Amino acid sequence: MAATILDGNWAAAKVKEGLRARIAALSAVGVTVGLATVLVGEDPPSARYVAMKHADCAELGITSFDHRLDANVTIDELLAKLESLNSDPRVHSYLVQLPLPSHLDQERVLAAVAPPKDVDGLHPVNLGLLALGEPQVVACTPAGIVELLRLYDVDLTGKHVVVIGRGVTIGRPLALLLTLNRPGLNAAVTVVHSKIPTLGDYTRQADVIIAAAGSPGIVTADMVLPGAVVVGAGTTFEGRTLLSDVADDVASVAGYITPRIGGVGPMTRAMLLGNAVRAAEVSVG
Ligand code: GUN
Repeated sequence: MAATILDGNWAAAKVKEGLRARIAALSAVGVTVGLATVLVGEDPPSARYVAMKHADCAELGITSFDHRLDANVTIDELLAKLESLNSDPRVHSYLVQLPLPSHLDQERVLAAVAPPKDVDGLHPVNLGLLALGEPQVVACTPAGIVELLRLYDVDLTGKHVVVIGRGVTIGRPLALLLTLNRPGLNAAVTVVHSKIPTLGDYTRQADVIIAAAGSPGIVTADMVLPGAVVVGAGTTFEGRTLLSDVADDVASVAGYITPRIGGVGPMTRAMLLGNAVRAAEVSVG
């Protein structure tokens, strides 16, 4: 039987529907949600992602602020920009688009974002709260994957999820999120990565495979149990073409699968908007 397509555009529209009411409630008390982005340099995929985030904000009536810095900006200049955003009352939350040019220390930059304004959930305090099982702001892609599966009634309770990738934006926070003691979560999680030579030995034991390695085609049909849920979250660009971590032939084996385009991406963007709305709500008290 053909796999059910996990349609991120459909799911993101549902998430945005719920956000519209919350944005209207904030508007009724005189608050316009404000989200800022900081883009350093001109990496084309990053510039496209940032442009999409601003378009999403415009669609929902969120005011967005677009800060662009030269690729050669010094760490002190970048930190000064973040300091100004931390104290700007119009900006309820913001993000620094990753990856940063190699001369900038990513950990230092992420730690300079005021935790209540960290729309990405990547500040050490927010990652630490997730590790403690008391999350406040959850990283957008992990949150988007979980919400996508929830909207398709994929219950992860007691399921074995194999996460491929341990990066700070997806794999690491996702593993923490999936093990939370919450309805629909409570999964058994195995995290594998590029240093594991026999990925298939792990994935062939999985009810759910989430590929976030940024390694095109790393999941092939022979690595998947018939009927398993397969989510492709890793992104690699070849020019303007988005390559998935999940090979095309996986669709013939999986029970549920994300499409190459319009799967996780729209959900990441929707959860970003959700975190932005939440930051504005928290600021109102
Ligand atoms: N680049 C790729 N993923 C992300 C993300 O989740 N947040 C930011 N800020 N940049 C990214």
